Amino acid sequence: MINIIGLGYIGLPTALMFASHGVEVVGTDYNKELVATLNAGKTTFEEAGLDDLFNEAVNCGIKFSTEYQSTDMYIVAVPTPYDKESKRIDPAYVIASVKQVMAVCPKGATVVIESTVSPGTIDRYVRPVITENGFVIGEDINLVHAPERIIPGNMVYELLHNSRTIGADDKAIGEKVKELYASFCQGEIVVTDIRTAEMTKVVENTFRDINIAFANELVKICRSDDMDVYEIIRIANKHPRVNILSPGPGVGGHCISVDPWFLVGDYPTYSNLIKQARLINDSMPDFVLERIYNIMKENGIKEVSKVGFYGLTYKENVDDVRESPTLQMLESMERHLAHGVKVYDPFIKADMVENQYHDFEAFLNDVDLVVLLVGHDEIKENMGKLKGKVILDTRNICSIEGTYRL
Ligand SMILES: NC(=O)c1ccc[n+]([C@@H]2O[C@H](COP(=O)([O-])OP(=O)(O)OC[C@H]3O[C@@H](n4cnc5c(N)ncnc54)[C@H](O)[C@@H]3O)[C@@H](O)[C@H]2O)c1
Repeated sequence: MINIIGLGYIGLPTALMFASHGVEVVGTDYNKELVATLNAGKTTFEEAGLDDLFNEAVNCGIKFSTEYQSTDMYIVAVPTPYDKESKRIDPAYVIASVKQVMAVCPKGATVVIESTVSPGTIDRYVRPVITENGFVIGEDINLVHAPERIIPGNMVYELLHNSRTIGADDKAIGEKVKELYASFCQGEIVVTDIRTAEMTKVVENTFRDINIAFANELVKICRSDDMDVYEIIRIANKHPRVNILSPGPGVGGHCISVDPWFLVGDYPTYSNLIKQARLINDSMPDFVLERIYNIMKENGIKEVSKVGFYGLTYKENVDDVRESPTLQMLESMERHLAHGVKVYDPFIKADMVENQYHDFEAFLNDVDLVVLLVGHDEIKENMGKLKGKVILDTRNICSIEGTYRL
């Protein structure tokens, strides 16, 4: 039986995937409400295919609990934020959950850390917890790092098809864990050591952050000198070895906007490019705000209350708002005492921010300038409804004449 610790965006779909492929699973989370919701037969976030996978897993006997189980296999998928001051990883959730595992696990158990961690985290923080509990690593407890790569919005498909990395002290244990993941994963599973697996995961997200930052820097350069960045990128990408990404209002989510800081925090001397990329991407919400104020002036829009933000999530077709550019813009406006902007997102059902609408038509009726911040399918399918509005499109999805871009 596997006990999966942490049933959030990563732990839950992973638990469901194992269970629906015939593995006995108990999912544990310390959030009582979350566990009660799952036990009541409901999923806890929106994700394509998740409900069907959930039903399948329930039929196969998956259990959810707030209690850690005594078993020989644990997968830990708890949060790994970064400390805003030091920029280093905050390992507190991982440490706390491994401590709780140590309190119930028998000798011979394997502990797989799935959470994203900076290189050296397992040496510095996880190994001591295990040894302090009287276990000998490699003899009593096997330690493995199996970072996750799935993208919200396409999690179920990617769990099945992505390649994975397994880092283990002992190759034979790595192969055993590989076999377990191969119960559902059809992608290549590479077995390596723990530090390489830690670094590889962080490097992947850092690569993406830097590439996004390049597109965002280009948009600033082009805006400053009246050049069409989208046309330039379109043409440049015809070069066989060039693939510039699309600029946007910033980088959100719990991975790309967080993990590169781990490298900046741990290797400040060598991470200049990585740090600059982070700073460029973090500057985009303010860049969009400046665009908004200029467009308001140009169109005689005097009240912030006549501006509407479409999209609260950090990316399209998901309900995850963590670190989202829209939230960063709202915070920045709050600091500048600019109140009254209207907000709408079809994926956010609960009231989360001031002046939030739950009805698209009502939202449109109340604003003159619509700022497209997230390219949900809903807006792509209803773009015609924006006709007559002043539009700022930060995602390059609107072809209505006169639309402003970044
Ligand atoms: N969300 C993504 O797209 C994504 C992608 C790849 C990797 N990751 C990584 O996966 C890890 C988990 O991220 P997430 O997005 O699933 O986080 P999350 O916040 O959605 O879920 C974490 C869950 O862990 C629970 N939890 C925290 N401490 C606990 C403890 N001691 N015992 C039991 N439960 C505990 C929380 O209640 C929460 O439900 C992070 O390291 C993240 O960087 C996330």
